[in-house]
Amino acid sequence: MHDQRPALAPWPLEVLLGRTAVESERDGRIFDLPLAKIWRAPADVNLATEVMGHPVATPLGPAAGPHTQLAQNIVLSWLTGGRTFELKTVQILDALDIPRPCIDMATAGTNVEWSQELRLEESLEEYAKASLMLGVLREWDPIRARTGVAGPHLFELSVGYNLEGIRTERMAGFLDAVSDASTILDELRGRIPDPFRSFTDVDLPSCLAHSATLSTFHGCPPDEIEAIVQHLMVRHGLDVTVKLNPTLLGPTRVKEILHDRLGWTDLHLVPEAFEEDLQFDRALEMLMDLDAFAQAEGRRFGVKLTNTLVVENHAGRLPGERMYLSGHPLHVISATLLADLDWALPGLLRLGVRDDSPSPVAFSAGVDRENVADLVGLGLEPVTVCSDLLRPGGYARQTLMLKSLCEAMRNAGCADLPAWRAHCDARALADGYETSAAAYAARLATPEGAARYCQEAVAPPKRNDGVLELWDCCSCNLCVTVCPNDAMIRLGSPAALDDMLEKKWQYLCLADLCNDCGNCTTFCPELGSPHLAKPRLHLTDRKWDSHEPNSYFLTPAPGGFVVAGDAYAGEVSAVVNGDRGLPVRGSDLTES
Ligand SMILES: Cc1cc2nc3c(=O)[nH]c(=O)nc-3n(C[C@H](O)[C@H](O)[C@H](O)COP(=O)(O)O)c2cc1C
Ligand code: SF4
Ligand code: SF4
Repeated sequence: MHDQRPALAPWPLEVLLGRTAVESERDGRIFDLPLAKIWRAPADVNLATEVMGHPVATPLGPAAGPHTQLAQNIVLSWLTGGRTFELKTVQILDALDIPRPCIDMATAGTNVEWSQELRLEESLEEYAKASLMLGVLREWDPIRARTGVAGPHLFELSVGYNLEGIRTERMAGFLDAVSDASTILDELRGRIPDPFRSFTDVDLPSCLAHSATLSTFHGCPPDEIEAIVQHLMVRHGLDVTVKLNPTLLGPTRVKEILHDRLGWTDLHLVPEAFEEDLQFDRALEMLMDLDAFAQAEGRRFGVKLTNTLVVENHAGRLPGERMYLSGHPLHVISATLLADLDWALPGLLRLGVRDDSPSPVAFSAGVDRENVADLVGLGLEPVTVCSDLLRPGGYARQTLMLKSLCEAMRNAGCADLPAWRAHCDARALADGYETSAAAYAARLATPEGAARYCQEAVAPPKRNDGVLELWDCCSCNLCVTVCPNDAMIRLGSPAALDDMLEKKWQYLCLADLCNDCGNCTTFCPELGSPHLAKPRLHLTDRKWDSHEPNSYFLTPAPGGFVVAGDAYAGEVSAVVNGDRGLPVRGSDLTES
C-alpha cells in the first residue's frame, strides 16, 4: 500500500456492544438506525425459506460488498430483516490499495472496489464478532421486543479470485478457521461487556459459514472456475455457488438492453471483457458438470446472477479507466440472462415451483422495493441487495422491501413463499409463458416494463446552495443513512455552544470506520464532502495522523473523552461529551 495506515480500523466488540446499549436506551437507535425501523415478521405472512439447505427467516439479505465487511454493518442488515449475508469477498491479496473514492451511486451504480479492505485475520474477526452480536442481540429483551421471533439467518462466504490464491496456506487457514471458529468465538465471549455479560454462554454455531460464493475476475477461464469449485467442495467441505458475470449475455444483447432499450448510452462497454469472459455455451457445460460433481460429492451447487458489469469510466468521478456497473441497468441485463439460462438448462435451475431441480439460484442486480416481490416469486433464493442500500435511507430500505413483499403476498392471498411462487408461476402460465422467469424477462422487454430502469427515470441527487463547514449544515441526515459503515453520526448541539451553533444537530465522522468511499459526498446536497469537512474522530491510533485536517483523537477520561486536535478541540469536546454526545463509553475503550 502507498499509505501504511489501513483503510479501516474496526472497532472492538466491547465498544460495539457498549454503543448498542447506550444508543438504544438513550437515543432510541442502534448504529443510527431508529428502533422503529427494525424488521418484525408479521403474523399473517410467513417469509421463511431455505438457502443452500439451511433455513432462513426471510429470502432477503445484503450482497457481497460494503454492507458485509464490518460487524456493525452485518448487524444493521440483520436488524432490517436481512437473513442471508453474502460476506465481503476475501482473497489472498488482502493489503490492496483501493483507489478512492470507490463508489458512485449518483445515477447508475458504479464502483471500483473488488474485495475486502481488511487483512484475512481481521475479516475472520469481523465475521465472528457479527455472529456473536447477532446471537446476543436476538436474545436481548429490548431488541427481542422489536423483532419478535427473529428466526434463523445464514452467513455465506464470498471468495476470490483464482485457484492459486485460494490454495495458499493463509487462505486455507482462513477457511479452516471459518469452519471451526470456536477459538475466536470463545475469546470474544470473554470480552462481552455489561449489560450483556449474562449472554456469555449464548448458543452459537462454531462454524461461521457452510457455503461459499465464488467471485471471479473477468477473464477467469472456465476450467479454473471448475477447479476452484471442486477444491472448495473437496478440501473445505463447502457447498458452493458460482457468481456469474453479466458478460455471459454477450455484447450484442447487453448493448441492445443498455443503450437501445434503457438509454444508458453514456455507459460504454469493454469489448475485451466479453471476449475474455466465460461464453454462454461453455457456461452451460460447466454448470451441468459442476452440478454432477456436487451430487457425486454429496454437496450443494448453486448459481448466482450476477456480478457487476465492467464498463469504461467515462464520467471521471471515480479513479481509473474502468468501473463496475450495478443497480437498475444491471437488473434488466441479469433478469434477461436468468431467463436465457433457465431456457437453455431445462430442469437444472431451481426456479418457480420446481423444488426438485438441483441448483438454487441467488440474485443480485438492482433489487429494490418495487421489484423484490417479483424476484422472490421467481423462486430466487436468496435475493440480495447492494446498490439500493447505498441510497438515502440505507439499511432501512431493506425493511421497506420486506413490507412490500408481504403486501404483494397478502394481495394475492398467499400466506407463505411456496404459495407466492405458485401464484407467480400460475400467472406466468396464464399469460402464455412457460416459466415465470421468461414472463419476467418479457415484461422488462416492453416499454412499460423497462421504463423505471431507463436512464431518464433515474434522477441525480438534489443540491442546494450551501457549502459544508465544520459545524451546522441543512441537517438532512443523508450522510448518516447512505454510509454503509455507519461512519457518519449525528450528535446533538450542546447548550454550552448555543451562541455559536445554529442547528440542533451536528454531523461528525468516525474516522476509524470511514474508508473514504465517497458515498456521503454523492448524496450531500451541500458543496463538499461530509467525511472530510466535518470533525473526524479517531478512537484508535490505527489511522490517526495529527496532520490530517479536522482530525481529533479521543482518549477515554472519567465521564467522557479528552479531545486532542487543532483549534476547535474545545468545541468538538463539548459536542462529543454533551448530553447527546458520542454513544460510546470511554470505559469500553479502556478495557479493550
Ligand atoms: C461498492 C460495491 C462493492 C462490491 N464488492 C463486491 C465484492 O467484494 N465481491 C463480490 O462478489 N461482489 C461485490 N459487489 C457486487 C455486488 O455483490 C452485487 O453483485 C452487484 O453490485 C449487483 O447488485 P446491486 O445491483 O444490488 O448492487 C460489489 C458491489 C458494489 C456496488
Ligand atoms: S463516511 Fe462517507 S466516505 Fe466515509 S465510509 Fe461513510 S459514506 Fe464512505
Ligand atoms: S453533511 Fe451534508 S448530507 Fe450530512 S446532514 Fe449535513 S447537509 Fe446533510
